[in-house]
Amino acid sequence: MTQVHEQGYFTEENSAEVVAARNANASNERLRDCVNILVKHIHAAVKEMEPTQDEWFEAIMFLTRTGQTCNDWRQEFILLSDVTGVSMLVDAINNRKPSGASESTVLGPFHVEDAPELPMGADICLDSKGEPMLVRGRILDTKGSPIDSAKIDVWQANDEGFYDVQQKGIQPDFNLRGVFRTGPDGTYSFRAVKPKFYPIPDDGPVGQLLTRLGRHPYRPAHLHYIIEAEGFDRLVTHIFDPDDPYIHSDAVFGVKESLMAKFDLIEDPEAIRAAGFDRPFYLVEHDFVLASS
Ligand code: BEZ
Ligand code: FE
Repeated sequence: MTQVHEQGYFTEENSAEVVAARNANASNERLRDCVNILVKHIHAAVKEMEPTQDEWFEAIMFLTRTGQTCNDWRQEFILLSDVTGVSMLVDAINNRKPSGASESTVLGPFHVEDAPELPMGADICLDSKGEPMLVRGRILDTKGSPIDSAKIDVWQANDEGFYDVQQKGIQPDFNLRGVFRTGPDGTYSFRAVKPKFYPIPDDGPVGQLLTRLGRHPYRPAHLHYIIEAEGFDRLVTHIFDPDDPYIHSDAVFGVKESLMAKFDLIEDPEAIRAAGFDRPFYLVEHDFVLASS
């Protein structure tokens, strides 16, 4: 017996509608809707690009290599999402902040869960390498009041552009990482070294794609923060060095105007002594404003 076809036969014109109709019995409506939206846009892209069979196979092989590059510590698909701006788009959609609240940016792959909790003002540089830096500021609510007991998790690359986890056995474990907790005045401070720009992992398919697109793999120098306090939204963000050579071309589009910090070189001997250093240091002062949850 001839079966009635549910939506007509698949043609170039009706392709996305035929596929969507086939998904009508999905038990998970959200999954069905997301797949149908993806199909709609991928079909539209394919119609616009009109790839040859060879080009389509090249795309399939690129995605295959991307998957094959993933392992316990390397996530090449996230990197692909980062360099195509998708990570920052998802971040923007999920972090629409009220006016006055600090903006978020990408988490990145180098956060570790169990960094040590340190006393305020502690030095997170464990190998004395690099130019000294004092970072300080306040954690505030949108009315400008200090937030007590805010947890501040910071991590950064060293003066050569490497995180500790990328240089096991070269840098001490937990180098340039620390967790701090504010008191009633909401202030925070720690010592570190001026970070340097660095390339995202670029020895895999995503790095090759960047090269073929005429792009560099660098992220401008930055400090990572995760700030949490009861009654407030968790803030995942960075502050950036505005004088970095890559500040206008971050490989993962993470830079925002409001996240620029000032790195002031302090050379006055009295100020150097007062801050507890024995040579010129960079002073970075940056406040963060948390949105109420
Ligand atoms: C980072 O800032 O640690 C980072 C972010 C995205 C991709 C790679 C690294
Ligand atoms: Fe980073």
